[in-house]
Amino acid sequence: MDSEALDELAGQLHGEALGGRGLLQLAAATGLAAYAVWAVVLMPGFRRVPLRLQVPYVPSSVQQVANVMGLLRGRTGKTVDLGSGDGRLVLAAYKQGLCPAVGYELNPWLLWLARYRVRRAGYEGKVSFLKQDLWKANLSDCYNVIVFLAPGVKTPLAAKLLAELPDEARVVAGRFPFPSWTPSSTIGQGLEQAWAYDMKEVRRAARSGTEGRAL
Ligand SMILES: C[S@@+](CC[C@H](N)C(=O)[O-])C[C@H]1O[C@@H](n2cnc3c(N)ncnc32)[C@H](O)[C@@H]1O
Repeated sequence: MDSEALDELAGQLHGEALGGRGLLQLAAATGLAAYAVWAVVLMPGFRRVPLRLQVPYVPSSVQQVANVMGLLRGRTGKTVDLGSGDGRLVLAAYKQGLCPAVGYELNPWLLWLARYRVRRAGYEGKVSFLKQDLWKANLSDCYNVIVFLAPGVKTPLAAKLLAELPDEARVVAGRFPFPSWTPSSTIGQGLEQAWAYDMKEVRRAARSGTEGRAL
């Protein structure tokens, strides 16, 4: 490229040729790049999940894991993490004696990471991670359900849990409580807080019209 051509290119980059059409192209390219990052890195595997139900990955902190496990102390039976991320809560549940311990996750990168972490920790074959949409999972045999999901999905999730879980089940929510349920106990403060809900109590409150009392 000679110096004349370079000057011309520099002129174009300085805005001579970047008119409305150029700006539109730039905006479209930026939008496409952002969408590619969303679809390929952050939310792959979510194409069939309605946008309003999509929750991105944010891992639980060490304290949050400890708080959730504190609310499951002494419990037994099948334990699931709905949206298990890198598997830290499922692994912690198994280590606390909760078995079977199962994670539902759609993001293939996170599933790979969760399985890798479990293998490295020497628990291969002890816990399982299913590539399955949590909204389609049958939860009727689950006795401990962990959820760290966005506030926006709590209402449809409450309806699903109410419809499917046995009376003896306990739901533990990290960071965001269920707005219309009364917790039986809670641990922690601020971003680390976790709430436990016993389905029998939640159903009793729903029947008597005393839902949603904060602890
Ligand atoms: C806020 S993160 C919590 C991750 C993990 N439970 C933890 O506490 O570290 C929510 C996770 O749910 C997953 N997720 C969101 N919607 C899902 C769906 N419909 N089915 C399965 N997993 C889902 C996301 O990929 C993400 O990993």
